[in-house]
Amino acid sequence: MSWVLVTGGAGFIGSNFLYSLRRRQPGAHIINLDLLTYAGNPENLTGFQGDSRYILVRGDVADRELVQDLFSRYPITEVVHFAAESHVDRSILDPGVFVRTNVVGTFTLLEAARQAWKNPAGPEAPRFLHVSTDEVYGSLGPLDPPVTEAAPYAPRSPYAASKASADFLGRAYFHTYQLPVLITNCSNNYGPYQFPEKLIPFALCQALEGKPIPIYGQGANIRDWLFVEDHCQALLQVLEQGRVGETYNIGGRQEVPNLELVRRLLGLLGEMRPDLGDLNRLITLVPDRPGHDWRYALNIGKIESRLGWRPRVGLEEGLRRTIAWYLGHEDWLDRVRSQAYRSFLMQQYGTGVVG
Ligand code: NAD
Ligand code: TYD
Repeated sequence: MSWVLVTGGAGFIGSNFLYSLRRRQPGAHIINLDLLTYAGNPENLTGFQGDSRYILVRGDVADRELVQDLFSRYPITEVVHFAAESHVDRSILDPGVFVRTNVVGTFTLLEAARQAWKNPAGPEAPRFLHVSTDEVYGSLGPLDPPVTEAAPYAPRSPYAASKASADFLGRAYFHTYQLPVLITNCSNNYGPYQFPEKLIPFALCQALEGKPIPIYGQGANIRDWLFVEDHCQALLQVLEQGRVGETYNIGGRQEVPNLELVRRLLGLLGEMRPDLGDLNRLITLVPDRPGHDWRYALNIGKIESRLGWRPRVGLEEGLRRTIAWYLGHEDWLDRVRSQAYRSFLMQQYGTGVVG
């Protein structure tokens, strides 16, 4: 019987993952440890209402006593660790909380898993899947080949540095203590439930309200995009079949410059909502993000050949599905865009964008 401790399960990828996990393992017990920060929303998980095998624990991954207590209370067989501060722009404004949650939080979880396993009366070591990002590899130039798992780490934002530190702790717990740690490094996700301060849902919200869509610099920076469902499927496969101690890149093989991405998004939104008029007029070039990484691109040959996973949802289909989801959930959007959301936008972009 599986007892899966998922951290950050009320966030964007975490909530999508919980639904995928429930479909894959209807009998699994799921403990969702989430602090419910601005990015965590229990409303994302209404599908778990009345599910006797699901428990939400509101708490901090960096709270040692709480995390130890979870390991002693439940026979945890797997950990899937999403909980993190995840937004680069926020890490530039306030890096301290990134170190606490992403570094100290990951350490706290790894250590609690190790302590629980060291206890001879305790369960077997849980498989520990640490969910990380392509940003740890740093910024690529236009002609660099996509990076493999063997590429050196070169993080350049406080967010990326905190995730890189967490990855190294995960690697260390495998090599030093043989804790069965698996690490995944994924490219930019998009899809349902993404908090509307990341590029795609933010651009959608601004477009729906006829407000400016800020694009940093010239909009030439390149990201690789993956539909969140494909990411969740990859995580399930790594959790079930991955080799412990190994790292797997997960990406969409869909590299697009930001300006082009936003134009494609607005083109599709315009088809679905012609009443919104000419949306390209909203695109506004604004001063660049400090230290803005130029390009991320992942070589995903390893997960394709070893685990048989590949991205299945193309960018156009994924964007259409994402737009349809947001158009069908305007009430969800209204509720998450609280006062705190508006004050972040004001701090980040000023009155011109917030209106
Ligand atoms: P998110 O910001 O939407 O959600 C983060 C979740 O973690 C929220 O539910 C929040 O309440 C919770 N949380 C924050 N601090 C916590 C704490 N101290 N204790 C417990 N819970 C806490 O993030 P996301 O986009 O869903 O990303 C999830 C994970 O995937 C992160 O580790 C991120 O680094 C990684 N990742 C994200 C992307 C992406 O494109 N979004 C890409 C690759 C990897
Ligand atoms: P983001 O969604 O914040 O993800 P990340 O920085 O982790 O890749 O941003 C994606 C890209 O879009 C990144 O190059 C920054 C850019 N961007 C803008 O140009 N304008 C914006 O308002 C935001 C939020 C992002």
